[in-house]
Amino acid sequence: MPDGRWNHNIHYHRLILAAVPPGARTALDVGTGDGLLARDLRRVVPRVTGIDVDGAVLERARQEDDGVDWIEGDVRTHPFPLDSFDVVASVATLHHLPDLEATFQRLADLTAPGGVLAVVGLARSSTPLDRVADLAGAVEHRVLARRRQVWKHTAPTVWPPPHTYAQVRRAAARVLPAMRWRRLPLWRYAIVWTKPRPVRVESPAEALLRLAKLVPRVVPDA
Ligand SMILES: C[S@@+](CC[C@H](N)C(=O)[O-])C[C@H]1O[C@@H](n2cnc3c(N)ncnc32)[C@H](O)[C@@H]1O
Repeated sequence: MPDGRWNHNIHYHRLILAAVPPGARTALDVGTGDGLLARDLRRVVPRVTGIDVDGAVLERARQEDDGVDWIEGDVRTHPFPLDSFDVVASVATLHHLPDLEATFQRLADLTAPGGVLAVVGLARSSTPLDRVADLAGAVEHRVLARRRQVWKHTAPTVWPPPHTYAQVRRAAARVLPAMRWRRLPLWRYAIVWTKPRPVRVESPAEALLRLAKLVPRVVPDA
């Protein structure tokens, strides 16, 4: 965050910003809270919408308006046109939505073909590898927090997260084929998925026309 605020969510905004595809025109920040990710996205994407179901936190986001469209609503039901955002992003919000597969499907439906869905989320540790990552996170936090201005967001929270990292990963893999998964040390995971563009199937008439163009023309002698 350019103003120097830091916490575990803000720390990973750079992963979301790095996933923004070249030429992206529109972005949606799901569960925008105080609106910090939406504002970071606004520096690289011309039209950014931040949605949050909580009116009070959205009011605080509005007060620091930076040209973002703020919407008070539930991302599951708000009447956004499908396939409409080049970037659908979300930080620390998916654990508020217990039906993981339905949530991934909804976010995928809102992503434009060729666009990117980028999520940083929270989950529960359940494996020895998770515990190693948590330990690395504790060390990283001690080092970073000393040098940063730790800032506490004012958005509603849910704790503990309802799903384990393994459950989130499995749900994401089912709904978002070829998604990229990362377990992050500061008690988070990241998912980046590019929505495939539809493959256009050539009709038989189009195929004939294309082939006909390949045949050299016989020009009769004058
Ligand atoms: C823990 S906060 C994270 C806020 C912000 N993304 C951040 O990184 O600081 C989760 C946010 O998701 C919002 N939220 C929960 N369910 C939602 C839904 N169905 N639609 C939109 N926002 C939702 C909550 O109101 C809350 O502001």
